[in-house]
Amino acid sequence: MKDASPATAPKTFYLKDYTPFGYDAESVHLTFRLAPETTRVISRIRFAPKPDAADRTFFLHGEELKLISAKIDGQAVTPELVEGGLKCEVPGAPFTWEAEVEINPAGNTALEGLYMSNRMYCTQCEAEGFRKITYYPDRPDVMSTFTVRIEGDEPVMLSNGNPMGQGEGWAEWHDPWPKPAYLFALVAGDLVNHPGSFTTKSGREVELNIWVRPGDEHKCAFGMEALKKSMKWDEDVYGLEYDLDLFNIVAVDDFNMGAMENKGLNIFNSSCVLASPETSTDANFERIEAIIAHEYFHNWTGNRITCRDWFQLCLKEGLTVFRDAQFTADMRSEPVKRIEDVIALRARQFPEDNGPLAHPPRPEQFQEINNFYTATVYEKGAEVIGMLKRLVGDENYYKALKLYFERHDGQACTIEDWLKVFEDATGRGLSQFKLWYSQAGTPRLKVSEDYADGTYTLTFEQSTPPTPGQPDKAPRVIPVAVGLLSPNGDEVRGTEVLELTEAKQSFTYQGLASKPVPSILREFSAPVILERETSNAERAFLLAHDTDPFNRWEAGNALAKEVRVAMVLDGAAPDAAYLDALEKLVRDDDQDPAFRALVLTPPSQSDIAQTLFDRGHTPDPQKIYDAAETFTQTLAQQLETSLPRLYAATTVDGPYAPDAEGAGKRALNGRILSLLTRLDGGEQAARQYQAADNMTQQYAALGALLKAENGEAQSQAFFKQWQDDRLVMDKWFALQIACAAPEKTAATAAALTRHPLFSMKNPNRFRAVFGALAGHHAGFHHASGEGYQLLADNLIALDKLNPQTTARMCAAFQTWKRYDAGRQSLIRAQLTRIAGTDGLSRDTTEMVTRILDA
Ligand code: BES
Ligand code: ZN
Repeated sequence: MKDASPATAPKTFYLKDYTPFGYDAESVHLTFRLAPETTRVISRIRFAPKPDAADRTFFLHGEELKLISAKIDGQAVTPELVEGGLKCEVPGAPFTWEAEVEINPAGNTALEGLYMSNRMYCTQCEAEGFRKITYYPDRPDVMSTFTVRIEGDEPVMLSNGNPMGQGEGWAEWHDPWPKPAYLFALVAGDLVNHPGSFTTKSGREVELNIWVRPGDEHKCAFGMEALKKSMKWDEDVYGLEYDLDLFNIVAVDDFNMGAMENKGLNIFNSSCVLASPETSTDANFERIEAIIAHEYFHNWTGNRITCRDWFQLCLKEGLTVFRDAQFTADMRSEPVKRIEDVIALRARQFPEDNGPLAHPPRPEQFQEINNFYTATVYEKGAEVIGMLKRLVGDENYYKALKLYFERHDGQACTIEDWLKVFEDATGRGLSQFKLWYSQAGTPRLKVSEDYADGTYTLTFEQSTPPTPGQPDKAPRVIPVAVGLLSPNGDEVRGTEVLELTEAKQSFTYQGLASKPVPSILREFSAPVILERETSNAERAFLLAHDTDPFNRWEAGNALAKEVRVAMVLDGAAPDAAYLDALEKLVRDDDQDPAFRALVLTPPSQSDIAQTLFDRGHTPDPQKIYDAAETFTQTLAQQLETSLPRLYAATTVDGPYAPDAEGAGKRALNGRILSLLTRLDGGEQAARQYQAADNMTQQYAALGALLKAENGEAQSQAFFKQWQDDRLVMDKWFALQIACAAPEKTAATAAALTRHPLFSMKNPNRFRAVFGALAGHHAGFHHASGEGYQLLADNLIALDKLNPQTTARMCAAFQTWKRYDAGRQSLIRAQLTRIAGTDGLSRDTTEMVTRILDA
């Protein structure tokens, strides 16, 4: 008889159950004898019992390891192999543990632990991958110094820290900084380096390298400059210096995430470090600069000060995302970066926070930690730090950070430690603020206003809808940055931060000559949903006059949303006043092109769907799509006479450079081209495609042509030109799906999975196809259900190879409760089918169960 419960019931881990490991790991020696299918790992670890330990169980994590031998103080022992690791009787005094295990890197398609990518050995240990390399207390609060010997015939063999020596067939490395095992890294293969160097503020010469496969050397220069800028910026802004003589970055093609901050040996998805004008878009350049900064910044916020346990993940990720955003704002444009981040927050974090996967930035339970590298932990985690900074002020913020680095260097910390530092540095209590870390859900902020006799009152009411496991929410501290404008457009009150602490609260302004127009939540000062009854005329006024660039964009964005919603619900024509406002802005050459491009970028169709749902309607994806098409077509017609001039005026002359200014101009130029294509059917786009000497323009032209269903020839030419470049091919796969009409989206994606260059084993390629499918709102949610079925088929297939990437992509289904009964039942059927698959991974099981339980 078949057992009703799964073979291994998934275990849930709880924050409240934290207990320290009973032993210190004083030093770790590892020897790797590399062989693709039979790598031997020999570990020698000095353990010392902790005098005050409550629990002395000697349990070492280990998965998919073949134990060859184990010794304690040189004597063979026979550990008890248990689920997820081993247990062993050990002495009550310090001892040396030795083990030899065999692993199979070539057979490792999950890309966790030691695996092979393009004949190159590499590792990914965060969060719990080290246990696939050897038996070890694989938890971030166990920190030790690592010495590593690599034996093999690979030309280049790297690990963390400093090189200790090398010879024919071997290399030795030593990392003097104690670290958790998740920061361990090893890379070996046929690699070439792009060298560089940096002198730290105290005069330390640091050797820098970007290691790549032969043939990719010409794509390293930009990343190297980004690295140097990051090192300098962290010294200038945070006073933080690099702490080794060597910093290596390696590019690998098969990688589940974007990049990883291993001590002194960062490993990058090649898509996040390799760049050249011919093969990378402006967006790629910006992302690469940010991610190199992000991983570098982890050296202090993550490595020197790490997390006590994985529940504290936002301690390092939220803070490091916050830091990389500051960096990008400084390198490029502060308002543009803020607008981009808010667009991303609304696209990724809000759906998560308002659906079945909602969890607080510091979750209290998980089954598979890989499922908690989420928009909430990262982006909301960063927003929480932004709020903290706003509440305590810049000076206090840097004072607190200084204290954090002094007090906690070398430690594995918690959110409590983090907040205590702020309390001690500023004298301010943060117990209510802490709710941001423990409560899930996006607060709604209702605003009403009152004006009489020169006194203006703003009243705020906050509430947060229930989320899984959290039916009731307490009021939080919400910093609301507000400015007031007079009806003639002058600012009558500069930005002031109102601190909300209660469910309902009013603030008054005295001595105003007339009723002002409020500009609320400037710079998006808190990750909340603002609910305010206001007119489109007022939004248009703010779009024209607000002194806060974020809120100017926001006013335009809100206006765009209202217009779309009206079009969808009432079949209304696009609002003429809004079209006029847009036209005025687009033609205003005094305005920053990047800003104009952002205002011209329509709100996402998924965002419109959520807005409709929030207002009690059932969104129809096809209608939302049609409204978007009609709107854009009408805008193109309205701008008809100015488009050729605008196109010419925004065309960047001279050689391509990936700076913010050029990128802003090209972004606007790309928007103009897509409008132009609606009128000329693709004449200008075909010319641009022909002439383009950089990927930004080539890609924009191809996208416009494919959207107009007039790009077959260019698509084939593109394929021919770039078929040997994996990263450009990812773009080719994705773009065809993104530009397909809704009724053809799933079929286009399905056809591409049969293309010889499609691969289930390369996460970038899989994501190119299925990320584009899931990101095509009307295509994915087409009433036929083909999109759902195709994604489910492929998730089921991928789960056998790569659970981590499969599980992350299940999130495409998280918004299913927004839609009509027909679509809901189609999605439920697919989720149920995935959930019922034999041998489904723990990762994917957890995700589909949570989504289904909604
Ligand atoms: N530590 C992570 C990488 C990671 C995440 C490893 C999950 C293992 C599991 C790294 O610092 C990171 O956050 N990378 C981001 C990019 C970053 C710019 C937000 C990523 O890989 O997407
Ligand atoms: Zn990170």
